[in-house]
Amino acid sequence: MVELKSEREIEKMRESGRIVAETLEMLKQKVAPGVKTKELDRLAEAFIRREGGTPAFKGYRGYPASICVSIDSEVVHGIPGERVIREGQVVSLDVGVLKEGYFADGAFSLAVGKVPEEVAQLLRTAEESLYCGLDFFRVGNRLGDVSSAIERKVEEKGFSVVRDLVGHGIGRSMHEEPAVPNFGRAGTGLEIKPGLVVAIEPMVNLGGGPVETRPDGWTIVTKDGSVSAHFEHTVAATEKGPLVLTRP
Ligand code: MF3
Ligand code: CO
Repeated sequence: MVELKSEREIEKMRESGRIVAETLEMLKQKVAPGVKTKELDRLAEAFIRREGGTPAFKGYRGYPASICVSIDSEVVHGIPGERVIREGQVVSLDVGVLKEGYFADGAFSLAVGKVPEEVAQLLRTAEESLYCGLDFFRVGNRLGDVSSAIERKVEEKGFSVVRDLVGHGIGRSMHEEPAVPNFGRAGTGLEIKPGLVVAIEPMVNLGGGPVETRPDGWTIVTKDGSVSAHFEHTVAATEKGPLVLTRP
């Protein structure tokens, strides 16, 4: 069942979203060669709690950390640890916050120092595909319009969307209906109504789309070892258009 949110609920989610956005902003300043991924986790958890939130991922189905840090061929759900960030890597940061009963979820990827032009292009395309999807998240459109806009943008640049993982409804739970795939056909799927709130999160690979799970049971990696990027916003459909809740 798809639960539409009231304006009051969207205001609450805006507060959770603000914390997600500010946490991601803070982390962006901290990513640098020599930094351990668990240091980013520690900083994020402290920041989220100082703002009155709870890190939504911690303990979720046994997930052991507050954020996800996924590097290079890691698509999503990388577990922070002793790993040290190096020049030339692509680092993806994913943050979820629960505050006063409502969740928000956001992510971005960045290059650490210099990367090959095709990797820079991958990052630009993945981010643009999120903004294309967001722009179709309008009352009266269908979810397939969002999905197909993302897929089109990615494939026109010769990259691949991940099909095994999807965006999702979000609100009083981190994952709710509906699923929001990053591929599909325009004009199909659920009609977008005021109060629908979803996390749109294209995962885009430089090579092929197939992924697999590492033996740690969490980390999703590309099958072909190619670099991957991930951008995510939580967004509410309103009569005035898409309202991005995880924007700083
Ligand atoms: N942001 C992720 C998602 O949308 C959630 C991370 S899973 C967790 O699915 F276990 F790490 F929390
Ligand atoms: Co998500």
